[in-house]
Amino acid sequence: MIPVLLDCDTGIDDALALVYLAALHKQGVIKLVGVSTTAGNVDVQQTAINTRWVLAQCGLQDITVVAGQEAPLEVPLVTTPETHGPHGLGYITPELPAQSQGSWQELWSEAIKTYPELRLIVTGPATNLASFGPVPRTTLMGGAYLYRGNTTPTAEWNSWVDPHAAKQAFAQAQNLITVCSLEVTEQFTLNQESLDEVIAALGETPIAQYLPEILRFYFEFHEAQGEGYLAQIHDLLTCMIALDRIPFKGLELTVDVEAESPLLRGTTIADFRGHWGRPANAYLVQSADIEAAHAEFLRTLRS
Ligand code: RIB
Ligand code: CA
Repeated sequence: MIPVLLDCDTGIDDALALVYLAALHKQGVIKLVGVSTTAGNVDVQQTAINTRWVLAQCGLQDITVVAGQEAPLEVPLVTTPETHGPHGLGYITPELPAQSQGSWQELWSEAIKTYPELRLIVTGPATNLASFGPVPRTTLMGGAYLYRGNTTPTAEWNSWVDPHAAKQAFAQAQNLITVCSLEVTEQFTLNQESLDEVIAALGETPIAQYLPEILRFYFEFHEAQGEGYLAQIHDLLTCMIALDRIPFKGLELTVDVEAESPLLRGTTIADFRGHWGRPANAYLVQSADIEAAHAEFLRTLRS
């Protein structure tokens, strides 16, 4: 049973990652030790409310969920209600579940001490990771490497929201951070047909009834961006890769992040040819079996 700590900014694709992790937890494949949240898609309190609400709709209301840092390390917080909806769950307004107590730092410290094999999965800005310090076996969704950004021409959202945290997370890394970036995660999409399959696979699980209105917002956003009536589910693919549940390939190399330039804020750079002569700090995923990911999601939800 793999112990897992998730750090997310629940938003819509984070929510589907939570649904997947909840299923794996209930099957005893993983132990979801707890969830901390960052500010990103929406503010940090809302990301914690959303996370608690999604887990409760999956029958896991007892999982510890704690809000993390309120704002990025140095830049003012910018959120994206236009992408994930006014509350971060599309057209759904989650009712307020009970608050979990304790600090996110205690959750991380206890989890690392209790579970030496712990895997940390970060699917939002790297604010908590940078603030806490390096965690072995970290997988992070973020960046766009020699690939167009989704927030600026060169920057991906998580890296753009807190560029100093992204830079610091790679600078302080003592083990390779597994990186799932846009050039890979944008390939994993749901459309109305595949969403219907997901809902059918969920059966009576309460979250199923809310997915149409959660995803409709995301479908409309992607359509307005010219991507078609579909949704890129970045964070769910990241979790499958973090847990070695699907085939994928990557490269060990050095990554750095631009944090000061207004034009290039959040741009992530990979030293593919060793120009910098610096030690590797990342395992940059280059390809993943997308078909296997769709099958993995449905199989996990069905069972
Ligand atoms: O750029 C995609 C990432 O930004 C995803 O994690 C999405 O949830 C948003 O946080
Ligand atoms: Ca996210």
